[in-house]
Amino acid sequence: MESNKQQFQAKTVTLGISGASGAQYGLRLLSCLLAADCKVYLLLSRAAEVVIATETNIVLPPSGQENSLQQQQDFLSELYGAKEGQLTLFSREDWFSPVASGSSSPASMVICPASGGTLSSIASGASNNLIERAADVALKERRQLIVVPRETPYSEVHLENMLKLTKMGVVVLPASPGFYAKADTVEDLIDFIVARILDQLDLPQDLMPRWGES
Ligand SMILES: Cc1cc2nc3c(=O)[nH]c(=O)nc-3n(C[C@H](O)[C@H](O)[C@H](O)COP(=O)(O)O)c2cc1C
Repeated sequence: MESNKQQFQAKTVTLGISGASGAQYGLRLLSCLLAADCKVYLLLSRAAEVVIATETNIVLPPSGQENSLQQQQDFLSELYGAKEGQLTLFSREDWFSPVASGSSSPASMVICPASGGTLSSIASGASNNLIERAADVALKERRQLIVVPRETPYSEVHLENMLKLTKMGVVVLPASPGFYAKADTVEDLIDFIVARILDQLDLPQDLMPRWGES
């Protein structure tokens, strides 16, 4: 039987982090995907960088400067212990990246967290940045797309977009952790959501006991 390790080395996931609150969900997911031996294509929106700076203690090398993409990729690779070639960060307009075409994009994409703006762009097929284009590709190719919206309350626009995406086969997995696991820390609440995403991706996880397990 194929070992888990062999299986996961083969899996590539596109991870888009947009500018909704809850950057920690996306960063924790990144670290879990790397730990599970996945290859990760990472896409950060401009607003995501602002949210990361606002909500976390992580100081990403600033974007928009010479070599900044490579610096950010190196920084995140070191922070989360990525192996050589395991993590690739693409720029927001890299239309030549594998995620921008159905001929080369991975089977699974997660947008975590997903802003209302990004949800709207995907629902309307705007494709104005690489997250939106990669999601558009996932939709047209009928590939796995998981979005993790974070907003409260939801407007009719948000709800309509989520329904539209659901009807297209997208998994809408809101960043609303359950409290029945008796979380002690914020990290436990983050892991609640990340565990659900890893389950959707069919990756093993033991971030928390499952319902019915002690
Ligand atoms: C600290 C911070 C928190 C934010 N939280 C949310 C949020 O929870 N949900 C949301 O839809 N937008 C939120 N926004 C606004 C988005 O970042 C903004 O609409 C942006 O244009 C989204 O762009 P993007 O989808 O390309 O990342 C937040 C912005 C900041 C700076």
